[in-house]
Amino acid sequence: MDKIVIEGGNRLIGEIAISGAKNSALPLMAAALLNDGCSTITNIPNLKDIDTFKRLLEHLGCHIDDSNRSVKINVSDIKTPEAPYELVKTMRASVLILGPLVTHFKRARVSLPGGCAIGARPINLHLMGLERMGAKIKIEHGYVEVSAEKLKGADIYFDVPTVTGTENLMMAACLADGITVIENAAKEPEVLELATALNKMGGCISGAGTEKIRIEGVRKLKPIEYAVMPDRIEAGTYMIASAATRGNLLLKNCPIDLLEALSIKLKEVGAEIIIERNNTRGIGNNPTRSVDIKTSPYPGFPTDLQAQMMSMMCISSGLSVFTETIFENRFMHVSELKRMGANIQVDGRTAIVKGMPFLSGAPVMATDLRASASLLIAALVGEGETEISRVYHLDRGYESIEEKLAGVGAKIKRVRK
Ligand code: EPU
Repeated sequence: MDKIVIEGGNRLIGEIAISGAKNSALPLMAAALLNDGCSTITNIPNLKDIDTFKRLLEHLGCHIDDSNRSVKINVSDIKTPEAPYELVKTMRASVLILGPLVTHFKRARVSLPGGCAIGARPINLHLMGLERMGAKIKIEHGYVEVSAEKLKGADIYFDVPTVTGTENLMMAACLADGITVIENAAKEPEVLELATALNKMGGCISGAGTEKIRIEGVRKLKPIEYAVMPDRIEAGTYMIASAATRGNLLLKNCPIDLLEALSIKLKEVGAEIIIERNNTRGIGNNPTRSVDIKTSPYPGFPTDLQAQMMSMMCISSGLSVFTETIFENRFMHVSELKRMGANIQVDGRTAIVKGMPFLSGAPVMATDLRASASLLIAALVGEGETEISRVYHLDRGYESIEEKLAGVGAKIKRVRK
């Protein structure tokens, strides 16, 4: 397994181009299953999760033609509504094909994703919504089987807003009979992006981006060409890295409007954010101060940036309190940060971080995608060498991360095994 080795202590200075958003590209690729033709998704990031999703679509019988950051998905020969465990287990977002498949085939059989490093992550709300739309649900041998002759519009309320759940049901409702209303829907920008794409296909969705989404079923959707939005979490990660290393990074194509909560917190710690047209400059100033972070659904502080922010707080003056409200087990990075000298106490969903004068390089292990990014930031500010193992997690969600960081002054190399 590859390792990343970083010699800490360099300020990050220069330009980084932000790639297309993983969490937008995946539902857009799933949406291609809703018609019989060939859709083209452009600005696709070069990531492991995208490769896995392509393999999943190929398994279903789609023809995939990818080149130059675009992927053509031809659905005309699709032959099976079954997604096996081998593919689903490596990527939970595979569950996004459930809604489109049951629409296409009247039946879908998808392996249940199971828990993962950040929490149990059930899909009960996806299934509840499909059931409300008239589908029959059966769970057997680790697979969920969903069948419906024709889905019907329904009123659906989520007890907690779920991003992929909202996306799944929005896709399923597009070709259902009648009107579906999703209350307490997720308001994440990726949901709005999917609704915009579905409307371009001929769908009739209003209210996406708010907690109430109305979907009027239509008879048919047509293939489209659609460009994936820039990745707000990748951009946010580099903004934090810039502030933490007291750097000066110009992030090209940065979706800064979608990073309001992070921008405010970064200003509170003492960083500067300068918006220059489509680009954003993040400047770290010495010394950074502590700030409290409570994650919540969009537009709140994203859980996907909690770990990265914690690494910066490990070397900021004062005490900061982190409260993770989205996932029950998203502090896996803490024990690794402690190996680098961090002072962090965890009690349930709260972590108290006491800023230390420095972190020291150590061998650490990545446990999930965002935890890996936090270890990378800790390594960049740490004294001496840090070796991060299990970096396949990083490759799932950060395109060319070592090239991008090396280009702005980080001493970073990948050791291939
Ligand atoms: N939940 C349920 N039942 C469900 C679905 C969700 O109880 O049926 C709970 C979850 O356990 C969690 C909360 O609802 O406590 C929110 O989870 P959500 O369903 O919104 O998460 P997700 O859709 O599985 C997406 C992103 C995650 C991101 C979360 C939260 C994709 C492909 N994944 O996951 O991204 O953390 O929303 O914003 O869009 C990442 O990129 O590293 C990542 C984990």
